[in-house]
Amino acid sequence: MSTPTAPDGLDLLASAELVLVGRVMPASNHTWLCTLGEGGPRAIYKPVSGERPLWDFPEGTLAAREYAARVVSEALGWNVVPPTLLREGPAGPGMVQLWCEPDPGQDPVDLLPEGPVPAGTLHVLDAYDERDRPVMLVHEDSAALRRMALFDVVVNNTDRKGGHVLAMPDGHRYGVDHGVCFHVEDKLRTVLWGFHGEPLADDERAGLEVLAQGLGDGVLAELTPLLTRAEITATCRRLDRLLSAGRFPQPGPGWPSLPWPAF
Ligand SMILES: Nc1ncnc2c1ncn2[C@@H]1O[C@H](COP(=O)(O)OP(=O)(O)O)[C@@H](O)[C@H]1O
Ligand SMILES: [Mg+2]
Repeated sequence: MSTPTAPDGLDLLASAELVLVGRVMPASNHTWLCTLGEGGPRAIYKPVSGERPLWDFPEGTLAAREYAARVVSEALGWNVVPPTLLREGPAGPGMVQLWCEPDPGQDPVDLLPEGPVPAGTLHVLDAYDERDRPVMLVHEDSAALRRMALFDVVVNNTDRKGGHVLAMPDGHRYGVDHGVCFHVEDKLRTVLWGFHGEPLADDERAGLEVLAQGLGDGVLAELTPLLTRAEITATCRRLDRLLSAGRFPQPGPGWPSLPWPAF
């Protein structure tokens, strides 16, 4: 006789009652912290009804973009995006995502006083803080952030702030807040520019190639209800461009390539 096992986070994400705990502030949209059942694991819930209209993305599409980002992350095999689903909730349909508690002692993206760049860290830019002191934006030089940066290129993330990088205690890095991805125009806006111009590692190329295959087949089927045909075509184009360049891209002109404030 098989022993019944406790439902894991993914089962609960799909089926448990979403118990609202409170709004996550500051947040531009209605972002709720909830639990999966009374006292269960925590999750983020973003109902479509709470999406604030944006000038450059069609209304009511952000939750689907968040889920599409998870589909791409899964196809790459890199687990950049925490488990995410589309489902019903107390404020109507929306996206739910497992809450991943970051380690407050780790700062994969950081603003430091101007000075020597610490070992294991890459410099992004120099700036002045709100009190006019010279500072530098840096991020760690890690395999996890390299993968996140490549993922962002493919999904065309317009909002990779430092606060959207979660440092897990074991060194894994999760990316969150992917509502403004997959635009047809190039709008990559990220703090993760430290890898610019670096060649792709073999495992990075391999992941991207698996995604490219999937985009001709199963991943295409998963993305079709979530994005427009033009957005999927643009995703394939960005992926092809990245694979043929064989390198991390450089920030281009014509679009602000850094989110500011950076956190
Ligand atoms: N899955 C998650 N696990 C842990 N923290 C999260 C998760 N998703 C979001 N957060 C935290 O909540 C904040 C707000 O969520 P975010 O997705 O950025 O919402 P918004 O779309 O309103 O900006 C994030 O900056 C991050 O600190
Ligand atoms: Mg956010």
